[in-house]
Amino acid sequence: GPVDPFDYIVFGATGDLTMRKLLPALYYRFRDGQMPADARIIGAARSKLSDDDFRGRAEKALARFVKAPDLDEAVARRFIGQIYFASVNGAEADSTWENLLRLFDDGVASRTRVFYLATSPSLYGDICRNLSEHGLVTPQSRVVLEKPIGTDLGSAERINDEVGQVFEEKKIFRIDHYLGKETVQNLIALRFANPVFERLWSSDAIDHVQITAAETVGVEGRGDYYDSSGALRDMIQNHLLQVMCLVAMEPPGALDADSLRNEKLKVLRALKPIAPDDVAHVAIRGQYGRGKIGDTVVPGYMEELGEGRQSRTETFVALKAEIHNWRWGKVPFYLRSGKRLPNKSSEIVVQFKETPWSIFKSKLQSNRLIIRLQPQEGIQLSIMSKDPGPDGMVLRPANIDISFEKAFSTRYPDAYERLLMDTVRGDPVLFMRRDEVEAAWTWVEPVLDGWARHPDTLHYYSAGSWGPDAARTLLSRDGRCWHEDVE
Ligand code: BG6
Repeated sequence: GPVDPFDYIVFGATGDLTMRKLLPALYYRFRDGQMPADARIIGAARSKLSDDDFRGRAEKALARFVKAPDLDEAVARRFIGQIYFASVNGAEADSTWENLLRLFDDGVASRTRVFYLATSPSLYGDICRNLSEHGLVTPQSRVVLEKPIGTDLGSAERINDEVGQVFEEKKIFRIDHYLGKETVQNLIALRFANPVFERLWSSDAIDHVQITAAETVGVEGRGDYYDSSGALRDMIQNHLLQVMCLVAMEPPGALDADSLRNEKLKVLRALKPIAPDDVAHVAIRGQYGRGKIGDTVVPGYMEELGEGRQSRTETFVALKAEIHNWRWGKVPFYLRSGKRLPNKSSEIVVQFKETPWSIFKSKLQSNRLIIRLQPQEGIQLSIMSKDPGPDGMVLRPANIDISFEKAFSTRYPDAYERLLMDTVRGDPVLFMRRDEVEAAWTWVEPVLDGWARHPDTLHYYSAGSWGPDAARTLLSRDGRCWHEDVE
C-alpha cells in the first residue's frame, strides 16, 4: 500500500545508476500506487540543469529502461511532475547548497527524508558532513550508500566513520542490490521453510558449492569507475559474498535485521584468510580480450576503455572460499564472476556427495541442486533415474525442475524497487551492516595484496569463453569441475 509522503534526494543524479535503475524503480512504485502524490524525487548533481532539463533526462531514461507495455504515458507524466533538480557541489561547502535548501521549507520538515548517495564513495563522508552543516539532516532522515563502500578495508572504515558522525548506524542503509532480488530472498524461504533441504545442508551430504554471476556485457561506458575497481571489488566483495552468506549461514532465530545480519557476519568471520602468496592457486583473475559473444565480435577490455589505454584490471575472478566452521569444514565454496562470458546467468550449484558405493554399471552423477537466480529463475534438482526400456538397469540423470515464472505468474520486480521502498519505510533487513562490509573487506584485501605482489597472475581470456583456463584448474586440482563442464 501507499507510504507516507517522503522526499527522496539522489546525489549523483545524472549518473548511470540513477537513470538505469533508480528512476525506473521509482516509476514502477508510483505506477503501482505506492508513492503518494506529494512525494518528491530530488536529483542533486554538479551539472547546471533546471528542473525541466532533468525531467527531460528522466523521461528519456524511462523510455529506455522501462519495458513495454509497462510505460504508460499519462502515468509517466504525473510521475515526472514529482521530480525536481538541485545543482549542488555535494563535496564542497559552497553556496550551491542554497539550490537544494530552497526546496526544504517548514512544510516538509517532518517528512521522511532519504539521501541516496550514488556518487563515488570517496565523496560519501563530505556529502554527509555538508548535509549536516546545512541543517538538512532531520530526525526522520536516513542515508543510502551504494556499493562498493571504499576500495579496501582502510577506506571502508574511514567512510563508515565519517558517515557515522552524521547518521546513527540504524539510519545507514548500505545497499547491495543482490539482496533485493526475489530469488536471493527466496534462499531464506528455501532453506528455512523446507526441512527437506536443511537436513542435508552441511558437509555430511554436500561436496562443494559453486556460485556464479556471469555477464555478457563489457564495461558499458562505466570504464572510469570499473577500471579503478575490477571484478573483485565490483562483484565478489559484496554481491557474491552476500549470496554465499545466505547459503551458508546458520538458521537465524528470527527474521529481523540483526538476527539475520549476525548470522551472515559469522560466516564472513569464519572465512579462512587467503595468504597473498597463495593467490596464484586459489584466486584466479582474468581480463577479456577480443572475442565473440554468440555471433557478435566484441572488442577486448583495453580496446573498450579507449584508444591506447593500458590496464591490468581484472574483469573475471574465480576463487575458492573456505568457511572454517563445523558445518562447512572441507566443503569449498567456489565463487566466480566475470564480464563478457558466454551468457548472462547467476546461479548457485550445490553439489552433493557421491554414493558411498555403486551397484550399477552406469556412471553415476552426483545430485546437484541448481538455484537459478537469473534469468529463468527457478530451482532444479538433478537425480539419477532408470532409463525406461528393456535393456536392464541403465541410468541417466533427469531433472526435477521448477520455473518460478510458471509457478507464480507475476512480474518479477527489479531488486531496486523493493530496496528503495525499504529505505523509505526504514526497514534494514536487506541491507548490510557496517561490520559485515568490513569483514568482507578483511577477507578480500589479502587477495588484492597478493595480486599486486604477483603481477604474473593476470590471465587473459577471449570474450565469450568461460574465463581463463586457470579457473578450470582451480577446480580440477580438487578433482572437481564447473557446472557447465559436467558430462
Ligand atoms: C553491479 C555492478 O553492482 O552489478 C555491475 O557494479 C554489474 O558491474 C551489476 O553489471 C550486475 O547486476 P545484475 O543485477 O545485472 O546481475
